[in-house]
Amino acid sequence: MTTNPEFGQSTTGTTVAKAFSDEVRGKVIVIVGVSPQSIGESMALALAAHDPALLVFASRTKSKMEEVSSKVKSVHGKTKIELVGVDLASLASVREAAKTINSIVDRIDILINNAAVVLQRHESTQEGLEMQFGTNHIGPFLLTNLLLPKIIAAAENSATKGSIRIINLTSQGHIISPIRFSDTNFKKRPEDLPLEERPMSRPGVSFDPPPGETYVPFVAYGQSKTANVLFSVSLTKKLASKGIRSIATHPGSIWTDLSRNLDEKHQDLISKTAGFWKDLDQGAATTLVAALDPKLGADLDITYLNDCQVAQAAEHARDEKAAEGLWQLSESIVGQEFKL
Ligand SMILES: NC(=O)c1ccc[n+]([C@@H]2O[C@H](COP(=O)([O-])OP(=O)(O)OC[C@H]3O[C@@H](n4cnc5c(N)ncnc54)[C@H](OP(=O)(O)O)[C@@H]3O)[C@@H](O)[C@H]2O)c1
Repeated sequence: MTTNPEFGQSTTGTTVAKAFSDEVRGKVIVIVGVSPQSIGESMALALAAHDPALLVFASRTKSKMEEVSSKVKSVHGKTKIELVGVDLASLASVREAAKTINSIVDRIDILINNAAVVLQRHESTQEGLEMQFGTNHIGPFLLTNLLLPKIIAAAENSATKGSIRIINLTSQGHIISPIRFSDTNFKKRPEDLPLEERPMSRPGVSFDPPPGETYVPFVAYGQSKTANVLFSVSLTKKLASKGIRSIATHPGSIWTDLSRNLDEKHQDLISKTAGFWKDLDQGAATTLVAALDPKLGADLDITYLNDCQVAQAAEHARDEKAAEGLWQLSESIVGQEFKL
């Protein structure tokens, strides 16, 4: 249960941050993925209104972070903001960024993993991973784990168990695909996958690749967004005893730069997926409920929020065995074990 059952799809991030302003005041908050006209920007603006101790932006393009920082400071002049460059598609860059963030902060009260890409063609990260899986999950997995000592430091100094949060932005699109443990890089056709790894299939809706091909971009996005929910399942399981909670959020449908890599046909497909389009401020709301609502600290079964309320993710994104399998796969990909 959330504190405010009246919050819903039209609620704004501004309203949520105001309702929970005590949870923002004095906090060190890291937002990953911050650009103008994006959800990262609207979250930063809503949070800055309530005197956080420090906002850290970690994102790919320095000039875009600077633009958002100037905008935030023009409205909330006292806000302390640090900018850290990171390319989540490069594990070396993630390690460097984590080192920089760890040198700036003594603790992290709230980490919001918001960055993601949507692609139309198969691309690879520096380490040869499928780009959406690599950028949307593996990079954030490594970054989060490397920042954990500072998150644990915040929990040790917090009087309220469960108020220290790691929030992972997912998408309703997670329903399209489970984790393809035998084929994260899309080398196989769906009929060659075990049944439980195949993408969603409904009468009239097919995610099959064209003949002779194996890559379906929306399936790859779905896999990466399932990974975001399973990452929250694992983090809560491993860290709840330390007073840390993780929740995944579907922010709604918001027309941002996320579809920048899609052609007109695919943008058109996306435009038909939503019954309600949120503005940027509304797009920040669900994630800020997950990050701030004190009532969500105690209930360890809450993994996923949609429209500012507790919701249920697809079964393949709630499964604890899949969550542990993904954790181990992610550790082997980044070449480091994290004993929590
Ligand atoms: N908008 C929607 O309708 C919608 C729906 C469901 C879920 N979501 C989720 O909401 C989150 C925010 O999306 P958005 O709509 O605000 O998209 P956006 O405007 O494209 O913002 C994505 C952010 O991620 C950053 N980013 C992308 N690749 C990166 C990389 N390799 N390294 C570091 N940063 C990187 C981008 O930086 P640059 O601009 O510098 O590239 C940008 O700041 C995503 O997780 C997305 O999956 C959005």
